[in-house]
Formats: sequence, C-alpha cells, structure tokens
Amino acid sequence: MKKVYIETMGCQMNKSDTERMLGMLSYMGYEETKEPEQADLLIVNTCSIRQLSEDKAFSQLGVWGKWKHEKVDFKTIKIGISGCVAQQKAESIFKRAPYVDFVLGTHKIYALPEIIERINKGKRVCECTETNATEDNLAKNYDIKRVKGVNAWIPITEGCNNFCTYCIVPYTRGRERSRLPELIIKEAKDALNEGFKEITLLGQNVDSYGKDFKDRNYRLADLLRELNAIDGEFRIRFVTSYPTDITDELIKTVVELDKVCEYFHIPMQSGSSEILKAMNRRYDRQTYAQIVQKVRDMVPDVTITSDFIAGFPGETEEQFQETLTAIDEFELDYSNLAAYSPREKTVAARWTDKFIPEDIKDERFQRLNKKVQENCLKSNLKYVGREMEVLIENFYEHKGKMINTGKTRNFKTVHIPCDKDMTGEFVNVKITGAKTWYLQGEIK
Ligand code: SAH
Ligand code: SF4
Ligand code: F3S
Repeated sequence: MKKVYIETMGCQMNKSDTERMLGMLSYMGYEETKEPEQADLLIVNTCSIRQLSEDKAFSQLGVWGKWKHEKVDFKTIKIGISGCVAQQKAESIFKRAPYVDFVLGTHKIYALPEIIERINKGKRVCECTETNATEDNLAKNYDIKRVKGVNAWIPITEGCNNFCTYCIVPYTRGRERSRLPELIIKEAKDALNEGFKEITLLGQNVDSYGKDFKDRNYRLADLLRELNAIDGEFRIRFVTSYPTDITDELIKTVVELDKVCEYFHIPMQSGSSEILKAMNRRYDRQTYAQIVQKVRDMVPDVTITSDFIAGFPGETEEQFQETLTAIDEFELDYSNLAAYSPREKTVAARWTDKFIPEDIKDERFQRLNKKVQENCLKSNLKYVGREMEVLIENFYEHKGKMINTGKTRNFKTVHIPCDKDMTGEFVNVKITGAKTWYLQGEIK
C-alpha cells in the first residue's frame, strides 16, 4: 500500500476536508501515515486567514521540496497543496514552489482521485475552478476517514456571502451554499454508529443554513430537530453564529431540544460601532448587546464566546478601548483574538494609509489577551460548587497523576483526577475549583 501524509492547518472546515480527502485516498489504495518521511504522497492542507498562516504553508512545502531535490530516496515522492492558499494562489504556486505536483482548490476536493491518477502519470495538475456547488453528489463512493475521538464535525454550509472587509474566506471558499439535510443526517448517523458522542455542525454562518434551498423551506432549527430525534446519548453543537442572523426560533429550539448544548459562538470582531461599520459587519455595539442579552435571558447557563481583531485599519485607542469594555460589559466567557493582517483582494487591505503599526497592534493584542483571561476566570468561578455533566474526551498523565478531561454542555473544560479512563463517557461531576482555562472536578 502507498502511504499519504497530510499536514492540516487552519479551521475545522479544513480538518473536515482532510477527513474527506483521506476517505478518497483510502479508496485509491493509500494508507495514512503520521510520519512524513515514510509517505509517497505529501499534502499540505492550507489556511490563508492571516499572512502568517499562508507563510507557514509555503515553508512546509519548502521543507518537502528540499527532500525531493536533495535526498535520493525521496526523488519519487509527490507533493500537493490544498485548502484556502491553494484556492487563492492557484497556478502561481508552481512558480514559487516548482517541486509541487498538484494544486487543489477548496471547490474541487472531489477531483482528488482523478488528480492522483494524473500526477502518477507524471503530469502536473492545478484544479482551482470556482464551482460554487456542493459536490456531495460526486462523493457517494467514498467514506469519510474521521480522526478518532469523541467529537465529529459535520459541515452544513460552505462559503460565505458576507464580505467583511478584512476577510479572505469569501474569496477562498466561494459563495454560501447549504448541504442537503439527507447527507448531513446520514453523516451524523454514521458517526454515531462509529461511536462518536458529539456532533458539531459547521459553517461560517450557520444561521443561513437552508436559505438557498429552492425546493424546500428547511432551516437550522429544522435540522437540529431531526438530529435531536436520532436515538442514543449524544450532544449537538453548531458554530459559527453571525450575530444578526440568530433567530428567536433558533434560540427557542436550543432551549427545547435536550441534545443541543447551551453554547453560542457569536463573533463580535470589535466593540466600536464605527469600526464595525468599516468592517462591513451588519450590526453596531448596541444591537450586538441586545442579541447577547436575549440569548442569556432565554438560555440558562449559556456560554457565549466571541472573536476580536486588534488594530483594524484606522482603529483609534478610544475605539480599541471599546473592545476592552465590550468583553466586560457583555460578560463574554471566552474570545479568540487576532492582530489585523491585510489579505489580498479584501477591501481593508487597500487602506494602507490607515494601517496600524505592528508594535501597537501587538500591544493591543496583549491587552485584549489579559482582558480575555480575566473574564474567562470570572466566568469559570461561577460554576464552583455546581454539579455538571461532563463528556470525557481525553485521559492522560499529569505530574504523576491520571486525569480525565472533558467538556460540560456549556463548553467548559473540566479536569477530573481519576485512574480509570472514561473517554467517551458522560459523567456527573462536582465542580471543586476554577482556573483561567479550565474547571476542576470530582466524580460524584
Ligand atoms: N465566519 C466567522 C469567522 C471566520 S474567520 C465570523 O463571521 O465570525 C475566523 C476569525 O478570524 C474571524 O472571526 C476573525 O476574527 C479572524 N480574522 C479573519 N480575517 C482576519 C484578518 N484579516 N486579520 C486578522 N484576523 C482575521
Ligand atoms: Fe469572513 Fe465575515 Fe464571512 Fe466570517 S462572515 S467568514 S468574517 S466574511
Ligand atoms: Fe478556514 Fe483558514 Fe480557510 S480559517 S476557511 S482554512 S482561510
């Protein structure tokens, strides 16, 4: 059997694409290896959300290119690049990295088997045509090779129509399109039969799910209801929610359905209404506040997390401080942070006269980071003394003690010292302490 190694960068969407590629490759007679030195085929599945992610992709290719060039045993290896950098840079990658055998964009991952046949005949292939279709109908022969674990990720929408001025995703993933519920439900059932205990539905904007269906009126709440009705003990989550697209019906559905967890990821991006406008986000600070308040009022113990960008072009110190105060005021439980990075083709990348110097961006990032840590601890402290259901995800040794770690329904990580490996089990835990990034618990 031939061996393939895939290095996956970026978000869950890419991780999910990797699982699909491994499925197709196994059908083609390739077996996955975790050792790149042993592979006949090396693929880097790339992310281009920030410049740094793009640079990482090329440096990975560079390492493999050097092997192919310099090591006798590596002359016949094949090297491919997929994902968002591939989609964005297409043929130009061959110039920069001439040792690359194929470039596979995000729209055409189901062309992989055909590409492999062609490169094995000595051809060089670039397949980056934008189709803006979900290609699921072509995929019926292939199973997904899921990374073993507790949580299965299932994409429900691909692409994005929002065109936030900083973001490259609409250019790398194309227009928003929904996958058919039949396919999603089948994938969920297969994952549950394989032993997964949690299904996370994935999309840039999950609340848009179904808007593009012409033959049916079927939205995220309907999908959640159908998934919730599947037999067995498991949890359901969904990410990411665009603030103004969260409907009352969706919030009610979350409360009503026993398997759907009390967790919303609602990126705000900035606390300043002016910056939000410049970002082309369709809400201001007050509207975001009202949405978060509504979710908190309706969903007991809900965890709300967010994303923020530090140093967006033109951001003043005062506007930055509005982001700091937003994290406190809206009691955001946790936030992902990034310093603004100009991206090719995006609108904000043209505002070079308004770019914030790197040292100021870094300093703002650090201040945000401190704020996020403070709030995370504050949020965790609320749960000390409570009894919570934890789904165990990992079992490992830490400082001579065995620990089970897992998540509560509301997405808090809990560490539980216990000698028995309980991975995949739902356990009732008494919360005995809180740290910045996790809760400590004891089995009841
Ligand atoms: N669809 C999601 C976000 C997907 S991208 C949403 O609308 O919220 C994930 C995160 O990357 C974004 O939330 C944003 O905070 C960050 N990001 C995107 N483009 C960026 C850029 N050019 N520079 C820095 N951070 C960026
Ligand atoms: Fe990017 Fe905005 Fe789409 Fe999110 S909603 S993927 S930030 S363009
Ligand atoms: Fe994901 Fe990065 Fe692409 S965040 S959608 S892999 S640009």
